[in-house]
Amino acid sequence: MPESTVAAPAAAAEPAKRSASRTLRLQLRFLLPLLVTLVAAAYLAVPLLDEMTLRWFSRDLNSRGVLVANALSDSVADAVSSDKVGRLRPLFERAAQDERLFAIGLCSPDGRLLQSTDRFPPSLTCARVVELAGRTEPRLGLQGGAVHVGVQDILGQRPPPLAVLAFEAGYPVTGEDGKSAAAGSAESPAATGSLALVGRLVLVHDLSFIDRRSQDTRRYLIGLIAVLGLVIALITMVVAQLSWRGWVNGARALMRGEGLLSPIAPVPELAPVAAELRARLRDLEDEYRRSQGPEAEWTADRLRGLLRTQLRGDQVIVVSNREPYIHEHDGGEVIVRRPASGLVTAVEPVMRACSGTWVAHGSGDADREVVGAGDRIAVPPGHHDYWLRRIWLSPEEERGYYYGFANEGMWPLCHVAHVRPVFRESDWEAYRAVNRRFADAVVAEARGDDPVVLVQDYHFALVPAMIREQLPQATILTFWHIPWPNPESFGICPWRREILQGMLGSTILGFHTRFHCKNFIETVDRYLEARIEHEHSTIAYQEKETLVESYPISIEWPGPDVAASWAPAAECRRRLIDRLGLPADACLAVGVDRFDYTKGILERLNAVERLLEKHPSWIGRFVFVQVAAPTRSALDEYRGFQERVHRVAERINERFGRPGYVPVHLLAQHHEHYAVNEIFRAADICVVTSLHDGMNLVCKEFVAARDDLRGVLVLSRFAGAARELPEALIVNPYHVEETADALHRAATMPLAEQRERMASLRSTVREFNVFRWAGRMLADAGRWRLRARIEARVRRYQSSAA
Ligand code: F6P
Repeated sequence: MPESTVAAPAAAAEPAKRSASRTLRLQLRFLLPLLVTLVAAAYLAVPLLDEMTLRWFSRDLNSRGVLVANALSDSVADAVSSDKVGRLRPLFERAAQDERLFAIGLCSPDGRLLQSTDRFPPSLTCARVVELAGRTEPRLGLQGGAVHVGVQDILGQRPPPLAVLAFEAGYPVTGEDGKSAAAGSAESPAATGSLALVGRLVLVHDLSFIDRRSQDTRRYLIGLIAVLGLVIALITMVVAQLSWRGWVNGARALMRGEGLLSPIAPVPELAPVAAELRARLRDLEDEYRRSQGPEAEWTADRLRGLLRTQLRGDQVIVVSNREPYIHEHDGGEVIVRRPASGLVTAVEPVMRACSGTWVAHGSGDADREVVGAGDRIAVPPGHHDYWLRRIWLSPEEERGYYYGFANEGMWPLCHVAHVRPVFRESDWEAYRAVNRRFADAVVAEARGDDPVVLVQDYHFALVPAMIREQLPQATILTFWHIPWPNPESFGICPWRREILQGMLGSTILGFHTRFHCKNFIETVDRYLEARIEHEHSTIAYQEKETLVESYPISIEWPGPDVAASWAPAAECRRRLIDRLGLPADACLAVGVDRFDYTKGILERLNAVERLLEKHPSWIGRFVFVQVAAPTRSALDEYRGFQERVHRVAERINERFGRPGYVPVHLLAQHHEHYAVNEIFRAADICVVTSLHDGMNLVCKEFVAARDDLRGVLVLSRFAGAARELPEALIVNPYHVEETADALHRAATMPLAEQRERMASLRSTVREFNVFRWAGRMLADAGRWRLRARIEARVRRYQSSAA
């Protein structure tokens, strides 16, 4: 037999043995005191029991004595009155043949022994008899054992003159014990006429049988206590075993996330224990998860594999407003810029993996100069992984569709950030027209009748239905990158039905969170005649079904080669400190956003100001650097907001700044990805305080940049990312005090805690990366297409059979 097969059961038996001996020790701890208690109880109970049985038997012997005395009293009275006490001896001997009656004697009232049986103890004088009769326990110890001495007064006739004279003279008739004769007989001579005490019958009972019985009782009692002890011990052991098993099962149930006594209602007293246990289990789970790494990590290769297998290499077309590469004039040359856009951050790596075509608005001032035939250009520059097809918009179109309907209407409508949405008829017209143009461009790009089209964001709510009209077999995946409001809020939109109808042209409609999916389904329920299947999260509208699902978006996790190209964190910090002239020991907090009112930039500045008020020790050391990429500055709302932010930053700097120290640095210009990464690596704290955000990828990029496991993330609870990243310090940005406290906590957080939190955040972002986001959506699309093909085949068979 191989060694391992022998060792395995032995190893398995070891913990079982250990657990059994632990249980035994536990039970002994209870059983030993129980045993001591029982022995003590027996020790105390036995004399008590003896005492009690003796008393019962004495009482018994007394009543027997009364019976014997009654039986003998006439004979005794006669014999005494006729002065023939000798006659009594055979009578006494006969009566004494009883097993328990040892001897009988008769004492005269004046204390002489008139008659007795053979065995009457010679030491028992009448005077002693009278003395014993006065005791509650008339016991007498003799050589052969203890005896019970009972005395019964015998009343009878006596020569009248003596008795009568005694009564008439007022003297009571007393015995030698000094007691009234009447007390013993209960009747006075006057009452009985001529009755008087004629003698005292002495009944000597053998008490050895009591001793015997008492010994028997003692034996029974000890036996009973022993048996009782055994039974209690046995019950204890069984109950302890069962309870232990119950507890172990309960703990297992907790590990499974069930109630301890599931399905019985949870026991409130156990709630804190359950919470502790669950928290500990989560820690262990986290440690385990981190030690293992992601089970099957989503990578670009895996996504490509999925496209090949599940989508049979079908063509992928992306449509979005923002293009992934913008060509611009810079001095005398054309440069390529990557826009500050969560959408681009997420979708670009997916397109690099999938190839295909990306249809987008050509917004760069040099864009037209670099495109080839069909307004296409291969990107990324120098790699040519996929095609970028640019759509040109006139300034009017851009104003109505992009600035107007999309960013003055839909954006505030969906973000509910206390900026009023503006809906203009002309904007709507432009929006419709531009959506049509993009839909047509997608159809023109399609090589077959069933491409996979990824429609991006609120700029193109009408595009899915428009493509569907022309390519009914297309698989259209629409992803809504911003929040979806509740039905009441959405009801503000005058074209709410058209928007919903347009979106329901999608095969799959994705949001970041389940909450946004729920809001959308409820909105459809409110404003359209559609069939909703909540169980499957599908909406059937005009014979066409749409799956509404949540797909939390993410970033591409930087591979080892990318990370290796980064400067060390200390170097990044040194560079930023030099560039901005910061104090060398500065605590560096950063924010990186588009300059948008939904990002909570004002709120975080207010929190910085409050921090400096509350903790003046930070003045001179706490520095906040805000990177704010210019965006939509053509809109009044944005311009006004950006000016307000500048004013608040200036106010803080005037209040707390001093030579060599500027608390707030507002960098309101575009930063390329590498520059942002350097800022993230330099920072002690990253602050994301969105007032409402679909996901927010800035926080995930910060986490990805911190391979040194340092830095603290302060994250708004109103960003979709807060659901995925609970190890961040989660704040309500509207609560200035709470946010300021979070900044202080972040600034003073021990390194060990930073490492712990950051390691966990990194493992989440790494696992839930953007390839997983796209992979899940495309896998769902693959299943959907397969189902549609099977259904089409079944329909064909059915129609050919008919
Ligand atoms: O992050 C949400 C989002 O709407 C993206 O989808 C969009 O690309 C980004 O904001 C930037 O907005 P814009 O393209 O208008 O600059």
